[in-house]
Amino acid sequence: MSEPDERTSPPASYRVGVIRGDGTGPEVVGEALKVVEAVRALEGFGVELIEFDLGAERYLRTGEVLLDEELEALRGLDAILLGAVGDPRVRPGVLERDLLLRIRFELDQYVNLRPVIRYPGVKTLVPSHTEDDVNMVVVRENSEGLYSGAGGFHRRGTPHEVAVQESVNTRHGVERIVRYAFELAMRPERRRRITLVHKTNVLTFAGDLYQRVVDEVGAADYPDVERDYVHVDAACIYFLDQPSRFDVIVTDNMFGDIVTDLGAMIQGGMGIAAGGNINPAGVSMFEPIGGTAPDHTGRGTINPLAATGAAQMLLAQLGEPEAAGRVETGIRFACSKLASMRAGEMGYSTSEVGDLVVEGASA
Ligand code: IPM
Ligand code: MN
Repeated sequence: MSEPDERTSPPASYRVGVIRGDGTGPEVVGEALKVVEAVRALEGFGVELIEFDLGAERYLRTGEVLLDEELEALRGLDAILLGAVGDPRVRPGVLERDLLLRIRFELDQYVNLRPVIRYPGVKTLVPSHTEDDVNMVVVRENSEGLYSGAGGFHRRGTPHEVAVQESVNTRHGVERIVRYAFELAMRPERRRRITLVHKTNVLTFAGDLYQRVVDEVGAADYPDVERDYVHVDAACIYFLDQPSRFDVIVTDNMFGDIVTDLGAMIQGGMGIAAGGNINPAGVSMFEPIGGTAPDHTGRGTINPLAATGAAQMLLAQLGEPEAAGRVETGIRFACSKLASMRAGEMGYSTSEVGDLVVEGASA
C-alpha cells in the first residue's frame, strides 16, 4: 500500500486529431501512428486519436469540405496530424482554400516550420552534401502574404480583364513570425544565425517591412543572433551550392512555400520532408509537406518517413521530447537502411519502413 502523502500525477494523455485525407495520406498516417503508438507505450503517456473524415472523398460524397462544428472540434484538440488532401476530380483551390488554408488561418497557425536536414545515408541530387551542410529550419509565415486571398477580378473573361492578387503583410504578422525565428535561433541545438529570405529589391514595401522588423527586433532583443539577408532567387542557388550558410531562415508565405520544396530535394525528396503549422499558444497541425501521390496510392510504395517526421514534431510540440527523440532515432535508423527516399525505390514497403522506424525508436 502506498503512503497517503505519496502522490504521483497520472500519466499525461493527449487528444490528437487525425485527418488521413486522400491518396497516400491514409497509408503514411497509418505508419506514423504505428510509430507514435510504440514510443507512447515506451515513454508512458496516453494518446487518444480523434478521426476526422475530411478531404476529397468526403467532399465528393457530401459536398462538404469543412463544417463549422468540425472546425470547433479541431480547436479543442491538443494537436492534429494530417496526411494529404487533394484529388484530380476536385477543382484546384477548393480543398486547399476551404480545408487546409482554412484550418491554418482559423486556428491561427501562423508559423509553418519546416526543418531541412540531410540525414546520413540519404541519397540526394547533391551527393557532396553532408548533414553538416544541410541542417537548417525554414520559418515560413503562414497566415498572410499572398495567401490572404485578397484581390479579385475586374472585367473577367474579357480582353480587358484585370486579375489582382495582393500580398498582405501586417506589422503584427511580420513581427510575430520574426520573433519566433529569433527564439528558435537561440535554442541550444541551433547556431544563432538568422537569414531573412525575401525580394527587397523588387517588393519594396513588403520587403522593407520584413527587413526593418528583423533589424529592429534583432538589435533590441537578440543581439547574440547574427543577421543575414538573401534574395529569394539567390537563396535557391545557395540551397544547392552553400546550404551551410543557413541556420534559421525566416521568410514570407509564398517564398517559404517555394523554397521548402527545394529544401525537400536537398534533404532527400518529398518522402522525408515534414512540417508543422504551429500556433505556439493554440492547436498545431503537422503534415508531410508532399501531396497525395495518386500514382502510388494503395500500392505500399509510398515513403512514410515524412509523415513520421511530422509525428515527431507533433510529439515535441506536445511537450514529449523523449518520445520525439526516439522517433528521430528511428527515422535516422531507417534512413541508414533505405536505398532511396523516393516512392517505389526504397527497397522496402511502406509498412516495412514503419517497422524500421519502430525498431530504431525502441532501442
Ligand atoms: C504546402 C502546400 C500548400 C501551400 C497548398 C496545398 C495550398 O503546397 O503546404 O506547401 O501552398 O501552402
Ligand atoms: Mn508547398
